[in-house]
Amino acid sequence: MAQTMTQVHNSIPVITLDGPGGVGKGTISALLAAELNWHYLDSGALYRLTGLACVQNGIALDSSEEVALHAENLAVKFLPLGGILLDEQEVEALIRTEMAGNNASKVAAIPQVRDALFKRQKAFLQLPGLIADGRDMGTTIFPDALLKVFLTASAAERAKRRYKQLIEKGNNVKLADLIVEIQERDERDMNRSASPLKAAKDAHIIDTSDLTIDEVFQKVMLLYKNL
Ligand code: DC
Repeated sequence: MAQTMTQVHNSIPVITLDGPGGVGKGTISALLAAELNWHYLDSGALYRLTGLACVQNGIALDSSEEVALHAENLAVKFLPLGGILLDEQEVEALIRTEMAGNNASKVAAIPQVRDALFKRQKAFLQLPGLIADGRDMGTTIFPDALLKVFLTASAAERAKRRYKQLIEKGNNVKLADLIVEIQERDERDMNRSASPLKAAKDAHIIDTSDLTIDEVFQKVMLLYKNL
């Protein structure tokens, strides 16, 4: 018997990786996507792009209707070999700054923005499978995911990792400032009413504080192989 579109979609495997900023979701997700040869949704990038589009167009980040309109109409292309185009301009470096992360966290608290990005995120669900990285992948966007992982690490540990990355890239930052920024972002992401950052009931929680990237990757692969 022919399958309906919903049945086809439900049969596409998804692994969700949720957790706070700086926990290593992006790195682990990219490794998983490469290992399994699956698609990759970097949902945080969509919120970062929304923030950037608003800043570039002089839209205040708290004007819900206008920000949602920009989210709805994002002209974005994720290039297969890396790089992100917004209105045909390369913006990857622009959206990876601390400021862009904070702006993303602000626009992400607006329910209309989350609604506007819902379908766009669902559209990443393609065969042979999807690694979905974000805050609400397992709770809201892909509640039927095959495997849900929630990564944690203390704010101090995440700030230390971020500090190392930024210093290596030649940025002049203070560890104490990063800890405060990370705590503020956690606070906003966890306490908003629309799809707050939290582990799904059926998520496997992995504390990465004392683990290397490879150890986290191996743990997730083991969970997948043991399904
Ligand atoms: O993962 P990231 O640092 O790129 O995310 C940037 C911000 O976007 C994060 O602080 C909160 C928001 N975000 C969200 O609310 N929901 C997601 N699924 C992904 C990111």
